[in-house]
Amino acid sequence: MTSHPTTAPAMVHGLDPSIPGHLPAHLAVIMDGNGRWAKARGLPRIEGHRRGLEALRNLVRAADQRGIRFVTVYSFSSENWRRPAEEVSELLGLLRYFIRQDVADLSARNVRIRIIGRRDDLPDDIGSLLREAETSTAQNTGLTLIIAFNYGARDELLRATQSLAARVADGGLAVSELTEQHLSDALDTSGLPDPDLLIRTSGEVRLSNFLMWQLAYTELVFLPIAWPDFDAAALDGALIEFSHRQRRFGGLNEETAGQARGQG
Ligand code: FPP
Repeated sequence: MTSHPTTAPAMVHGLDPSIPGHLPAHLAVIMDGNGRWAKARGLPRIEGHRRGLEALRNLVRAADQRGIRFVTVYSFSSENWRRPAEEVSELLGLLRYFIRQDVADLSARNVRIRIIGRRDDLPDDIGSLLREAETSTAQNTGLTLIIAFNYGARDELLRATQSLAARVADGGLAVSELTEQHLSDALDTSGLPDPDLLIRTSGEVRLSNFLMWQLAYTELVFLPIAWPDFDAAALDGALIEFSHRQRRFGGLNEETAGQARGQG
């Protein structure tokens, strides 16, 4: 069994990880604005994505230091195939590079990797790399990094519905017994808590088919900066904003929020 160094969560000014609900347990991120970042500097779009990968590395490190347990990032949507073939190929290349280059280091830091999204239409070598990243980090107990690749929420919901319909059709499940839990368990994110906070960079204010089921009660923070410019200070700003939000989950007060978080 590998032993991993343990460090106490870093105390960010104004944030207290020991107060329940003060820090998000699960942070979801739409890493948007790479192309515009590159264009503004006269660089090819891929350069923006490369710098975006650097920002992702910094995010994982900073989130871990602050005691965030789950980070989900939108790295390639089911709609991104519509981009020019060259950019698609470069994004696939960047994923290959990331898995080969970073997984060992992430694993040494006790990070567990999970991938969400449709697998059956990905190139074979990418499928194997993704499986390898998941299996080689499956025993890790630190931060879980969830990479949404070839992911679209509608596609995820469709696949979940198909799997539940198949169980109903073969007699394993009655329609009248179907619950929200069945649907949650049939999603790619099965077993993960819903995100508490979503950050989207680039100034766009939409969800773009990301985690549509899971974001039902998530706090949303939209930042005007491009993803490659996202750093620990930007993360802390969003965390401080999150700590001031009153989460009611459709109820009236903090007590309801505590119940929704499973704290009785
Ligand atoms: C959106 O910016 C970003 C993407 C479609 C790709 C995100 C990918 C990375 C950050 C690379 C690292 C990730 C992995 C896991 C390899 P955009 O291109 O839509 O920017 P724009 O809206 O300014 O054109």
